[in-house]
Amino acid sequence: MRISKKRKEQDIAYYEVKDYELDPDAMIETFDLTKIYNITEGIEIRALNGVTIDIKTGEFVSVMGPSGSGKTTLLNMIGALDNPTDGAVYINRTNIAHMDDKQRTNLRLKEIGFIFQFYNLVPVLTAFENVELPMIFAGRTKQVIEKNVNKFLDLVGLSDKKDHLPSELSGGEQQRVAIARALSNEPSILIADEPTGELDTKMGTEIVNLLRELNLELNQTILMVTHDPQVGNLAERMLKMRDGKIIETVITNK
Ligand SMILES: Nc1ncnc2c1ncn2[C@@H]1O[C@H](COP(=O)(O)OP(=O)(O)OP(=O)(O)O)[C@@H](O)[C@H]1O
Ligand SMILES: [Mg+2]
Repeated sequence: MRISKKRKEQDIAYYEVKDYELDPDAMIETFDLTKIYNITEGIEIRALNGVTIDIKTGEFVSVMGPSGSGKTTLLNMIGALDNPTDGAVYINRTNIAHMDDKQRTNLRLKEIGFIFQFYNLVPVLTAFENVELPMIFAGRTKQVIEKNVNKFLDLVGLSDKKDHLPSELSGGEQQRVAIARALSNEPSILIADEPTGELDTKMGTEIVNLLRELNLELNQTILMVTHDPQVGNLAERMLKMRDGKIIETVITNK
């Protein structure tokens, strides 16, 4: 935690007009990404402190680091759940750092699939209905919805459990439904925040292996936070965070 002066208006304008040199192969690029939470008047938490990363299309990258180091905040900025204080986030070569709520909602529906630690399935809906939900929000046609639900439930190995409610599925199976749901609108990026956090080692390994298959077979770009070094090692590259910064990049040669 630190106390700092309020930013000046001209600083904001400077960041908005700044021209960054973009990598043509990147799906995700951040430049000097900073997120400051104002707790009370004059007291600020610098959750991200100048993060610059470049993730190529089709890359599988994990993020590790102690609790409070800024991992979820980084995913939230890249996933357009919230706007950064400073810096830029490019998704598919578009800067999303200054979008309004409506633009961010639209971008999330089309470009980003989320997978959470606690699955976040709708308990009263079946596996089929959970997977079709984002496509209904995105206004997809009935035919596309039907085709994609079947395709993605099949891909995660659950075609025989379409009519099951979440309470009638194991933890690993619920996470598979959540993965099918995240894939349903065929997003550019899959973002996973501790996807194996609630699972035992066997189910957790199955889930990460599934993510790796999707990464290889669909060329799906994946950004995954984990506390488990074994899980983190299954990605091609591991970013280590501390105090809102990337302190090390480890190539795992996967
Ligand atoms: N909405 C918020 N308001 C104020 N402070 C926040 C908010 N969200 C996160 N923080 C603070 O920002 C810092 C980074 O939090 P973040 O959730 O990104 O950490 P994390 O690395 O994901 O931790 P964990 O491993 O425990 O999930 C922490 O100090 C946290 O308390
Ligand atoms: Mg977190």
